[in-house]
Amino acid sequence: MCTCARVRASRHSTGVSPVLSCTAVRDLEHRRPQPWPIRVAHWVNVPLLAIMAASGLQILAAYPMLGPQGRPYGWYPFQGTPPPEWSRLGDWLAGARHWHFAFGWFLTLNGVAYVLYLALSGEWRRRLFLPRRDTRNALATLAFYLRLRGHAPEQGLYNGLQRLAYTGTLVLGALSILSGLALYKPVQLRALASLLGGYDPARALHLIVLALFALFTVGHILMVLLHPRTLGEMVTGGRKPDA
Ligand code: HEM
Repeated sequence: MCTCARVRASRHSTGVSPVLSCTAVRDLEHRRPQPWPIRVAHWVNVPLLAIMAASGLQILAAYPMLGPQGRPYGWYPFQGTPPPEWSRLGDWLAGARHWHFAFGWFLTLNGVAYVLYLALSGEWRRRLFLPRRDTRNALATLAFYLRLRGHAPEQGLYNGLQRLAYTGTLVLGALSILSGLALYKPVQLRALASLLGGYDPARALHLIVLALFALFTVGHILMVLLHPRTLGEMVTGGRKPDA
């Protein structure tokens, strides 16, 4: 049965957009919290991101300065300081480039598969941040975490702040791929490199994205530790709401 009342209630509990049809709402609300394609993409992403970060830091160690040669950027606090040895992978510049360029394609493929699945399955509706739907909830959740509000706002699968953070990782992923491509083939992809301000700004952007990914990961793991039930769901898929 798909009455308007039922759809209204479902929209409330799943957090889905009011533009959804009855069938789409009914379909989403019967799914497990974490369908297997999301879980596979998520867990494949973890070692891939670690390999990319560590081999990237080994590449940085070959020239640990940011900015054009001889005119380093003043705002970068680690000029001339290579990243610590424990954080690097690949032993030397060429070794690290092999790791980075090999696994970069897998990370890109994994990201593309995840985005395609979100788009084709309709999962984007309950996972991505939609400003008109989620801004108020994100602010209320933030106020709750800052103890400016006594109780957490109602939410579906995710609250607005989670949706903002998870959607943010997609933006970061796109920026890291684009800046990475500009660094990989700066001559052939001159237009892309220019769009990012040139080779040196693209290199700075690539590193800033890594720092933001690291920041997200620390916050993300802290939140998972505070809500361990979500970890079980990300492993098993969780229960169907009507099971
Ligand atoms: C060992 C490290 C990690 C653990 C234990 C972990 C765990 C989890 C868990 C439990 C969830 C579900 C959260 C919830 O239901 O509220 C989740 C979702 C998510 N995680 Fe992680 N995560 C890890 C690393 C990462 C990394 C490195 C990224 C980097 C991009 C990431 C990106 C995401 C995203 C985008 C989602 C939302 C997925 C979706 O709903 O489509 N995670 N993670």
